[in-house]
Amino acid sequence: MNKEVAVTPIFVQKSQFPIINFFNYSLFMKLPYAEPYRIKMVEEIRQSTKEERELWLKNADYNLFNLKSSQVYIDLLTDSGTGAMSDKQWAALMTGDESYAGSRSFEDLHNTVKNITGYQYLLPTHQGRAAENVLFSVLVKEGDVVPGNSHFDTTKGHIEFRKAHAIDCTIDEAFDVENLFPFKGNIDLEKLENVYKTYPKEKIPFCLITITCNSSGGQPVSLENMKAVKELSDRYGIPIYFDSARFAENA
Ligand SMILES: Cc1ncc(COP(=O)(O)O)c(C=O)c1O
Repeated sequence: MNKEVAVTPIFVQKSQFPIINFFNYSLFMKLPYAEPYRIKMVEEIRQSTKEERELWLKNADYNLFNLKSSQVYIDLLTDSGTGAMSDKQWAALMTGDESYAGSRSFEDLHNTVKNITGYQYLLPTHQGRAAENVLFSVLVKEGDVVPGNSHFDTTKGHIEFRKAHAIDCTIDEAFDVENLFPFKGNIDLEKLENVYKTYPKEKIPFCLITITCNSSGGQPVSLENMKAVKELSDRYGIPIYFDSARFAENA
């Protein structure tokens, strides 16, 4: 995404008129004429009929987790690992250093993470849910509450598995599909402060900001909102953690 696109939404958010916002936004957007890459491989997927889908859904007791992947034409359950890899990513599999300790590939990862976040320490995990398990085993205790913006399902699972409770503080605009507000992943400061006032500090290990806010449709969170959440949380002495699964898209 180019710089203008990344900067524009902050400008847009200041106005309260969604339609004008959308118009302004399109004025500033510079989308490429066509995708600047070639796709080298295709994978066949089967198209199903409406009758088939109705039957499969009924047999699955309307629980999408009970479907077979071959029954799903467009899978919107996750975007993790479902995208095509670039030639450089495939090549990196061959040039990667798999040494058990002191690996050069780890060094590359470490440097990249340090450059982006400024953090010195990094604990690699194979998937986001594994990271949640490691982190929450230290931070979340029975009876705790964890406020945030539409916690991802695995996140909520790891919180509730520990007999704690995830409290959704996403702004109401997120649930109105016709609303064009550009930052529907934002945290509602009033809802968040209400949690901070209702529960003792010891019961709130952290506030979780998920960027993008995937469980409400991959919605972005504005920098302005993140700063406000940090400021509010600082006043109550509650740390902020980022689930930055899609931080680049959020930019
Ligand atoms: C916001 C968020 N958190 C956590 C996860 C879990 O990550 P993983 O699927 O790598 O376990 C995802 C996956 O899409 C996610 O979008």
